[in-house]
Amino acid sequence: MSFISIKEAIAKGKGKVSIRGWIHRERGSNKIKFIVLRDSTEIIQIVFPREKFEKQWEEIDKLQIEASIEVEGEIKEDKRAPSGYEISASKIKIVGESNEFPINKDLNEELLGDRRHLWLRSRKMTSAMKIRSSVMFAMHEYMHKNGFTEIEAPSLSGAASEGGSEVFETNYFGKKAYLTQSWQFYAENFIHAVGKAYAMAPSFRAEKSKTPWHVTEFWHFEVEGAWMDLLDDMKIAEGCISYAIQKVLKENETELKAVGANIEMLKKVKAPFKRVTYEEAIKKLNENGHKMKYGDDFGSSEERSLAKYYGDNFVFVTNYPLGLLKFYHGEDPKKPGTGTNFNLLAPGVGEMVDGSQREPDLKKIVERLKKAKIDLGASDWYLDSRRYGSVPHAGFGLGLERFVAWICGFDTIKDAIPFPRTPTRIYP
Ligand code: 4AD
Ligand code: MG
Repeated sequence: MSFISIKEAIAKGKGKVSIRGWIHRERGSNKIKFIVLRDSTEIIQIVFPREKFEKQWEEIDKLQIEASIEVEGEIKEDKRAPSGYEISASKIKIVGESNEFPINKDLNEELLGDRRHLWLRSRKMTSAMKIRSSVMFAMHEYMHKNGFTEIEAPSLSGAASEGGSEVFETNYFGKKAYLTQSWQFYAENFIHAVGKAYAMAPSFRAEKSKTPWHVTEFWHFEVEGAWMDLLDDMKIAEGCISYAIQKVLKENETELKAVGANIEMLKKVKAPFKRVTYEEAIKKLNENGHKMKYGDDFGSSEERSLAKYYGDNFVFVTNYPLGLLKFYHGEDPKKPGTGTNFNLLAPGVGEMVDGSQREPDLKKIVERLKKAKIDLGASDWYLDSRRYGSVPHAGFGLGLERFVAWICGFDTIKDAIPFPRTPTRIYP
């Protein structure tokens, strides 16, 4: 038998086909057995009449969900069947039997988490992982097309970067080491070599927060470019996001439907995205009944509300007060006291991207560090980026799982990563 995928078989639509996969559903009587088979591409119903399979009937009758089989048969259109087609089987080979599969629709989140390695076989998860893969690939493609070099930083580092309290510490041959929280410090140095750089890599945050939008290990898409200003930075962010969405719409229609994504909403995404300042955003919130003062930080519920108030679409919020920003964000000379920074907010999710034009001046950075009582310690090498030919530069970080969850319309990023790590889960 020469096998084709179920999707290919459906595209063929008639004649003899050979397919293989895992049993998704089964039912039958002592005269006929119906099996819905799945592979990574689709599902299809297969009919086994007993009279054709008398010799193998006992084995066929015993088949359970998730057993693996190879089948040959005639495919034809059948509007009543799950994918609109049905195969009338002429041959079957049972490849791997299955015990009673420990996944069913009555399992709670905790048990599904324990059995994550098996739950990944579900249509929802398979489809989500395919969408994730397409998104990643599209982002790589976009960056290469725009002249960025992919370059990695280590995951093990001698010092923390984004903030001390949220860092995982580990024992490195008797010395302390930390799991990286961001690629940025490395990037701000090597852009002096490669000019425009990006990476897609795991970042780690020891945050105890159990929100649907946090995991302790997430995939971080980070970008940094020499000679880039805030507007260039935002253009790359919105360009890359729209490109990835277009690509997924083109290539993953089946998967988008399987996860129940809002395809019409995805089609509406077009760069440029709306831009507002932090000050305007505060006003907008207060007009809608929130009680915020200038200087307050947005929580995720304010962020989600803002995306909703601004047309239920992506919105860039720029110029946060410096007091809310890290020492490396630049100050806007046109709006002193505010940053050349942005957060990109997504409806239903909140913050999805965080970026800025960086402060290029060593003296100003040193002042900011002093004011915030931060001692860079073992990270002092970072400042070499400002000591040897500092240039204007900008960059951002995007949480891949937040992006994928938003595309799929999920209400948690845990379904946008194969094996989510949370404060209460480190296995499987
Ligand atoms: O806002 P963050 O902490 O910014 C940085 O790390 C910068 N160094 C990025 C840069 O400029 N290169 O993280 C960036 C993004 C957030 O907007 C969010 O989407 C995601 O990373 N993120 C998380 N995603 C899932 N779980 C977590 N615990 C996350 N923490 C941040
Ligand atoms: Mg942030």
